[in-house]
Amino acid sequence: MTEIAAVDAWEVLDSRGHPTVRVQVTAGGETGTFTVPAGASTGDHEAVERRDGGDRYGGLGVRGAVETVRDELAPLVVGCDVTDQTGVDESLADYDGTDDFSAVGANAALGVSGGVAHAASAARDEPLYEYLARDSPGRIPLPMVNVVSGGLHASRGPEIQDFLVVPVGADAYPDALEVVWDVRSAVGDRIAGDGSPLVADEGGFSPDVESVDDAFDLLAAGVRDAGYDLGGDVAFAVDVAAAHFYDAETDRYVLDSVGRSLTRDGMVDLVAQWVDDYPLVSVEDPLTEDDWEGWATLADRIGDEVQVLGDDLLVTNESRLDRAVDADAANAVLVKPNQTGTLTGARRVVEAAKEAGWATVVSARSGETCDATIADFAVALDAGQIKVGSLARSERLAKYNRLLAIDRFHDGEFAGRDALVPRNP
Ligand code: PGA
Ligand code: ZN
Repeated sequence: MTEIAAVDAWEVLDSRGHPTVRVQVTAGGETGTFTVPAGASTGDHEAVERRDGGDRYGGLGVRGAVETVRDELAPLVVGCDVTDQTGVDESLADYDGTDDFSAVGANAALGVSGGVAHAASAARDEPLYEYLARDSPGRIPLPMVNVVSGGLHASRGPEIQDFLVVPVGADAYPDALEVVWDVRSAVGDRIAGDGSPLVADEGGFSPDVESVDDAFDLLAAGVRDAGYDLGGDVAFAVDVAAAHFYDAETDRYVLDSVGRSLTRDGMVDLVAQWVDDYPLVSVEDPLTEDDWEGWATLADRIGDEVQVLGDDLLVTNESRLDRAVDADAANAVLVKPNQTGTLTGARRVVEAAKEAGWATVVSARSGETCDATIADFAVALDAGQIKVGSLARSERLAKYNRLLAIDRFHDGEFAGRDALVPRNP
C-alpha cells in the first residue's frame, strides 16, 4: 500500500480570471495536482461550490475551500491508500455529511479527489487514463465542438448557449479535429466582415446573429464552404441551456432575441422543428431543469431520432439520473465531475447511464484551466463523447491535445458516431 503522505491546496485563477482551488497530493514520493473547474450556467441542483463572498476578488475567492482542504480534508485522507479512490471519495462524502457537499464545498472535495487520482497514477507509474480504467482503457471520445456561443457565455447573440459541430463522418480522432477546424475557420471567414470575431467564454465565436435559425444557417454555410457534406461528414448539436431563459413567474420560455415567449408545448414544438430543419444529432437542456413533464414529452417526440442530453436536469447526480431513466425523460447524460464533487460520483453516473443504455458525454465547464483530467477520465471510462468548448484558448486545447497524446500512445479506437444515441436512428 502506498500511503498519502501530504495534501496541500492553494488558490489559482481560471480561464475567466476567477479564483479556483488547486490541490497537490503527495504519495510514494510522487505528486499529483488537480485544478477544479467552475460553471457559469450552473444548474440549481448541482453540488455546492464554496466561495468566500466579501471584497476579495469580487466575492469569488476560494480561501475558505482551500483552508478546508488543508485543515480538515488533508488530516482525513493522509495515511489512506492513495489507490483506494473509492474509499477516499466516500470518506470525503461521509465527512461532509450532506448530499450536496454544502458543508465542505464541492470545490474542496473534488480538488482532493482529483489530486489523489493523479498522485496514484504517478505512484503507479501509469498514465491517468490507464490507472482510472477498470480493465483496459476505452475509446477516444467523439468530440462535440462549440463553434458559435450565445446565452450566458457570450455578450451578444441568441439565448441558446452553444451551437456545436459533430464530426460524425470522421474515422479517427485527429481527422475529427481537422474537420472541425476547417468548419470553424470557414465560419470565422464568414463573420470576419464584422471585424475580428469576438470569442466567448469557451472559445466559440460570438457573431452578431440574432436568431437561432441564423446561427444554424451560419454553421451550415461554414460546413459547405469547407467542402463537407452536411449531415454525412458534419452534424450539429445544441446546448439550449433553457433554464437560463425560463421565467418561473410566468412559466414561459422567454426568447427576447426573436420577441417570443413560449409555453412548455411551444418550446417542445420549437425544438422539434429544429430537429426537422437541421442535421441535429444531440439536443442538450432543451427545457428547464425541473420541467420533468416537458422533458418526457420532448424525449418521446424526438428521442428516436436524436440524443436528448441532460445537463442542468441531471447535474451528474445518480438519483436524478435514476428518475430520468424511469421517466424516459432523456437518453443521454452530461458528466461534469464538479457537479457531483468526486471522481467516484462521476464514475457511478457514467456506469449507471451505460447500464440503462444511455449515452454519456464527459464535459468541461465554461471556467477551466489547462488541467486535462477529463480527457483521461473520458477514455478510461469509455464515455464515448466529450464536450470541452471550441478549438481555441489553451484551457480548451489542453483537453483536445491530451486526447491527441492518448491517441498516439494508446491504440484505442475512435468512438466516432457510434457513441451517439439512439444507436440506429
Ligand atoms: P457551464 O456551461 O460550465 O457554464 O455550466 C457548460 C454547459 O452548460 O454545458
Ligand atoms: Zn449545458
